[in-house]
Amino acid sequence: MGGGEQTRRSFLAAAAGLSLSALISGCRRAPSAETDEGEELPEVRMPPPPVRGAGRHAGARLVFYAESVGIGAAIDRALAQRFARDTGAAVDVVLRPRDATETYASYQRLFQARSADVDVLSLDIVWPGIFAPHLLDLGQALGGLAATHLEAAIQNDTVQGRLVAMPYFTDFGMLYYRTDLLQKYGYGAPPTTWDELEAIAKTIQSGERARSRAFAGFVWQGKAYEGLTCNALEWIHSHGGGAILEGREPTVQNPRAAQALARFRRFVGTISPIGVTGYEEEDARNVFQGGNAAFMRNWPYAYAAGNTKGSRIEGLFDVAPLPHEPGYESSATLGGWTLGISKYTRFPDAAIAFVGYLCSPEVQRFRALVGGYIPTIPAVQNDPDVVRVLPFLERVRGATLVARPSNQAGARYNEVSIAFYQGVSKALYGTEPEKALEQIDRRIRRSLR
Ligand code: GLC
Repeated sequence: MGGGEQTRRSFLAAAAGLSLSALISGCRRAPSAETDEGEELPEVRMPPPPVRGAGRHAGARLVFYAESVGIGAAIDRALAQRFARDTGAAVDVVLRPRDATETYASYQRLFQARSADVDVLSLDIVWPGIFAPHLLDLGQALGGLAATHLEAAIQNDTVQGRLVAMPYFTDFGMLYYRTDLLQKYGYGAPPTTWDELEAIAKTIQSGERARSRAFAGFVWQGKAYEGLTCNALEWIHSHGGGAILEGREPTVQNPRAAQALARFRRFVGTISPIGVTGYEEEDARNVFQGGNAAFMRNWPYAYAAGNTKGSRIEGLFDVAPLPHEPGYESSATLGGWTLGISKYTRFPDAAIAFVGYLCSPEVQRFRALVGGYIPTIPAVQNDPDVVRVLPFLERVRGATLVARPSNQAGARYNEVSIAFYQGVSKALYGTEPEKALEQIDRRIRRSLR
């Protein structure tokens, strides 16, 4: 990994669609524990950093819609408790629905009702443009802190000159594979093309089915929701089929995109379980972590989780860039979450102090070390301890980061994404890829008119 400047430049270049050099997750592990709600959350084994300079906020009561996937829920709860202890504010943590599309729908309901029932929200990086009218401008209070974060991330959170959110962590898609199984079946390296992946997955699956009838070659996120937009963007882009929009023009109607959809349609029921068309991130992770898949597409959080005690694949897997068609690029959809404050909050000062704490360098470092979350502050990305727990960055450097078209579509992004993932989902269920792409094209044009 290079110095600060280099990492910063590479990330920005990556965010612009060049090469992925952002950082990747670590490998701390934690056993499970019961929470006060009786829900199983992994244990956070490091104390959260103290809250500095936030002042006292006794009497304030914040509701925080927090991360719910992987160890993120446990981390956010621990941070909220620390903030409450140090400032006197009460913080109620609500785990957002795991499905990003469902989270979106909850927020839409809360905002439409101008509800004061939520103060601080985890927002997907594709939403600031949509929810901006309901979010506080944090520029004045947190502008100084914002200047230490990646410029691309801050730009993403700035809507018409207002800083409506603060970056929490960044994400991208990668290929997880079982090192032991590749070796067992005589493969020296993970696949780089989709054809190779298909062939290897087939061989391993048929061999392993003797042991477990549920064994799958390749698992991914095939449910009709935002996660499928992320997956299918990678398939299409890595086949040379574009990135959904160019400007405000849809670009999906092309033979390479059709080829990508046909390929994944073929995967369903062959190297991927039939049920993959209902999978979210955690479904894929559970299958892979249970030792029942050779390959998985997922985000970096699954790396830390896969190495927890009790995981059946601890030390038996690694990551690589996602495959591509020969002549095209390995493509990784850019994801991530950012924190916003509802305009309808009754406790803006406490909420700002809380977001300032969560997006501080100390907390970013803590989240990287405990959960493998990728910091959005370059100085933290280059912290030697953080570098140590991001051991596989080098292996995915070759991928190209691809952004979903949230900038181009602005407030219409969600409609565009729904049109896209619903069309892709139809293709996975058997609609001719060309026909599905034509429908996607038509619906997107209608939305952006
Ligand atoms: C991850 C990404 C987010 C994306 C979501 C889709 O949480 O960080 O950007 O929208 O997955 O499921």
